[in-house]
Amino acid sequence: MVRLESISKSFAGKDGPVSALDRIDLSIAKGEIFGIIGSSGAGKSTLVRLINLLERPTGGEVFVAGERVTDARGERLRELRRSIGMVFQHFNLLSARTVARNVAYPLELTGRYGKDEITEKVARLLARVGLSEHAHKHPRELSGGQKQRVGIARALACEPQVLLCDEATSALDPQTTGAVLDLLRQINRDLGVTIVLITHEMDVIRRTCDRVAVIDRGRVVEQGPVTDVFLHPRHPATLRLVREAEPDGGSLEAISASELGSSTVRLTFTGPNAHRPILGRIARENVVDYAILAGRVGHIREAPYAQFIVSLSGRDIAGAIAGLRASGVDVELQGGPQTEQTAVTSPRVGERALHVV
Ligand SMILES: Nc1ncnc2c1ncn2[C@@H]1O[C@H](COP(=O)(O)OP(=O)(O)OP(=O)(O)O)[C@@H](O)[C@H]1O
Ligand SMILES: [Mg+2]
Repeated sequence: MVRLESISKSFAGKDGPVSALDRIDLSIAKGEIFGIIGSSGAGKSTLVRLINLLERPTGGEVFVAGERVTDARGERLRELRRSIGMVFQHFNLLSARTVARNVAYPLELTGRYGKDEITEKVARLLARVGLSEHAHKHPRELSGGQKQRVGIARALACEPQVLLCDEATSALDPQTTGAVLDLLRQINRDLGVTIVLITHEMDVIRRTCDRVAVIDRGRVVEQGPVTDVFLHPRHPATLRLVREAEPDGGSLEAISASELGSSTVRLTFTGPNAHRPILGRIARENVVDYAILAGRVGHIREAPYAQFIVSLSGRDIAGAIAGLRASGVDVELQGGPQTEQTAVTSPRVGERALHVV
């Protein structure tokens, strides 16, 4: 749906050009919820402005629905921009207009719809975001979550193919964040609209997205299904973001080398395995004891996961590891904490080279 090929963007600085994005390759499929995560200054908003064609890249190509749009101009550019809805962190509502007239605004701008048609479309959009009874209020009379619902209804007004959300929940409290993310997922399911979620919070990605790209200092340093990136972060920037989301679970990655014996393993249970009593059974069968050094449990979207670092001791450790793998548990031997070097060069889960203890 949206494809970026080797996109670079630099800005003129006092001492020459400053690079904000460096050869970004991204491919966002139709109908998916794609997350882009990075810390402040990573280049997220710059990327958004390139996707919605508000700015042109210094290098590379942008494709929307298979069409090269890097040089689009005039009416074609306006049409493309209408096919990409935007949701902003600070809502950007017009304070003098009512809720209904804020949502009507983009429809009025097109000059394509009659008054009755706009009224009817706005009523449907407000019902979709649960704001029908607030249609005649002004933005100042709404809570943050309600304002963002207006922002979402307005972004959907021109029936976009892509909804771009730049830190759409960053100004909201955790409960309201959850409700807005649920609404976005419902819109994605009901309308099939492709959603690109830009955030600095791993929790937003974990709850909402199918795939994610991690951007750090203008480069994509890691991308893949959320389950892979969240449970097996490789790049230090990703590790940092995971740790921020789960201060305790993050210690999974931070256990010191002295605590890690040669029989220390990281076990990842996903899907139905997250609820099965696999570890105890396999320990008994192989006459092995285990100490849990760190752990985290939770959900990635609806899918449960459990991940532990355990130190194994006893009779048949190799047998226990083989048994865990045969039961569908992902087992990674922990040689020590990941360094930048090993994080970047080690292959992704599934391709990982494992030594038998
Ligand atoms: N118009 C501009 N002129 C000069 N430099 C810019 C411009 N826009 C962005 N930059 C620089 O590009 C880099 C990326 O900025 P960007 O706003 O994309 O980051 P971000 O990931 O959105 O950060 P945040 O999470 O704080 O919003 C920063 O170093 C920023 O200073
Ligand atoms: Mg930004």
